[in-house]
Formats: sequence, structure tokens, C-alpha cells
Amino acid sequence: MKIIITGGSGILGGYLVETAPARFQITATYHSNLPRSEGCGFAWLDITDASAVDGLFREIKPEAVIHTAGAANVDFCQKNQEQGYSNNVTGTGNIISACRAGNIRLIHLSTNAVYGGDAPPYGEESPMEPVNIYGQQKKESDNLVRKSGLDWTIVRPILMYGWSRPWSRKDFVVWVLENLKAGKPVKLVDDVSENPLSAEVCAQAIWGCLEKRMAGEFNLAGKDVVNRYQLGLTAAKVFGHDPGLIEPVKNESFKKIAPRPANTSFNTLKMASVLGLEPQPLEEGLRRMMESRPDRMDLLIKGRLAK
Ligand SMILES: NC(=O)c1ccc[n+]([C@@H]2O[C@H](COP(=O)([O-])OP(=O)(O)OC[C@H]3O[C@@H](n4cnc5c(N)ncnc54)[C@H](OP(=O)(O)O)[C@@H]3O)[C@@H](O)[C@H]2O)c1
Repeated sequence: MKIIITGGSGILGGYLVETAPARFQITATYHSNLPRSEGCGFAWLDITDASAVDGLFREIKPEAVIHTAGAANVDFCQKNQEQGYSNNVTGTGNIISACRAGNIRLIHLSTNAVYGGDAPPYGEESPMEPVNIYGQQKKESDNLVRKSGLDWTIVRPILMYGWSRPWSRKDFVVWVLENLKAGKPVKLVDDVSENPLSAEVCAQAIWGCLEKRMAGEFNLAGKDVVNRYQLGLTAAKVFGHDPGLIEPVKNESFKKIAPRPANTSFNTLKMASVLGLEPQPLEEGLRRMMESRPDRMDLLIKGRLAK
């Protein structure tokens, strides 16, 4: 079965490439950052260019597309509204058109940023009431997929943690750990909460959706609802860093960033009952992250490992 992964050079894309079941023949796309990894073919693609998308899809003739590409940086979208729109909305529209032309199944990646943050926990039926531009753009792209008439699945991860590749955007937890390792203090907000999800678990859930032909929407999250400060403390504990370097601050102290919804944590009922995925405790996921990359351990662990 041939699959195209858009955004193969991104954080989630990296995990999808690494965890792809052997029976799938994968073509992963990149835009600005060519990955140096093996195991699949990489193709350049600009999703905002309809003819480029159409051309690649006609050449590969995939049975399914996992669409992760887009502008996933919340502050970038707030400051660069048009560019964010073309990546997140126009780009998704181009993917939908190419899927229609080739009768291709679509797995589309959404986000917790589509929710307002004042009425958690959020399930698949919850109204989308985004508080920032990124959330508005992703809401619009979700609606395009819902109305597309395709054989579609929307996978909606919440804040993900995992290893960023050298060529990809820096993951939040990796950013925290690198600062702590360098002995630099970090300020983390204690009034923005999620139930963070391992990017590896997200990738495996997506493969499960594809293999079992799951249609509809799936909100994916971890077990523990924490604020960013608590997430930083937990990562410091698991990776053996000094938690004293982390200072709790309020979201409003960052004046130049996009508004953040207060608590977008998900309920995980559908994920557990339909996909058979019990949400993973945060410490377990972070420990698994640490153990999965022994080559990064020296880089990140300063002190003794926490028991
Ligand atoms: N990370 C999270 O915590 C999180 C949480 C909830 C939902 N999500 C959603 O999950 C998906 C993946 O997120 P991520 O964090 O893995 O994203 P990411 O690391 O920022 O990667 C974005 C990917 O999109 C590609 N891309 C950007 N502009 C493009 C364009 N014009 N044409 C083609 N490709 C383009 C990038 O390619 P280059 O790097 O090569 O330019 C990169 O591969 C996104 O849909 C995001 O909204 C992410």
C-alpha cells in the first residue's frame, strides 16, 4: 500500500517515518528542510502550490495520505497571518482536491488549539472556539476536510513531546531540557494546561487508524493534565535535571505572543474505546522518550537518573 506523508521533515512526520509498518511503501515530503534519514523516499513539496501537489499525487498514486504539513507554530501564525493561512488552509484545500482526483483516503492532522480552553475536557463533539489565529486556521481546515466528501479521518493531537530531529522545529520538552542542561533558567507558564501526548504514541495511533480504516474524528491525549510548568518539572525529574532552574510565570507576562487557551485538555473516552488506546501517564511517556534514544542521553542527562 502506497502512502504519502506530508510534513515528513516535521516532529510528528519524523515519528511517522520511523514507525511506519513495513508493508506500507512510504513517500514523505519536506519543504525547507531535507531530512537525513533512511527507510523511505523523500520528495520536495510545497502544499500551497496546487499543481505541485497534484503532480506528486499523480506520480505516486497513493492509496492514502497522512497530512501533517502546515504552519504549526502558534506565534508564527499570529504574526504571519497570510503565510499561515496559505499553509494551513489553502494547503489543506490543495491536498483535498488532489485526493478527490485520485480517490485517495485522507488522514488530516488537527490540533487542540481549535478549542476555547474554558470548558475542558474536550471531546470530538465539542464546539470549535479558537482564541488565536492558528486555531482559527486549523478550524477552517478541519471544516474543509469534514465537507470534502472524501474517505477521511481527522486525528487531533494535543501538545506533543518527543525528539526533534536536527532538521525539524524544536520540540517544547527538548527546548526545556537543553536549557536545563546548559544551566540556564527557564520561565514556564502555570496557567496553560493540556494532557500532553507522546509524538511516538500519536504516530502509532495514526497507523492504527489507517490499518483499521477508522473514519471520523479522534482526539488523542496523554493521561495527566498538567500546566507547562508542571510539564517542565516532570521532564526535569525524569531526565535528572535541576528543577530549581524552572520558574513558574503567568501567561500574561509574555506580551508578544499569541493568546493561549487556558485548558484545552481532552477527554480520552473515544481514543480508549474505539482505538483501544489507554492514555499514557506523562512520566511513563517521558521515560520511554529518554530510553528510546540512548544516543541523546549523554546530551541531555546532567545528573543521576531519577528512580
Ligand atoms: N507539535 C504539536 O505539539 C502539535 C499539537 C497538536 C497538533 N499538531 C498538528 O500536528 C501536525 C504536525 O505538527 P508538527 O509539530 O509535527 O509540525 P512541524 O514539526 O512544525 O512540521 C511542519 C511540517 O510542515 C512542513 N511544511 C511547512 N510548510 C510547508 C509547505 N508550504 N509545503 C509543504 N510542507 C510544508 C514542514 O516542512 P519543512 O520543515 O521541510 O519546511 C514540516 O515538515 C500539524 O498539523 C499540527 O498542526 C501539532
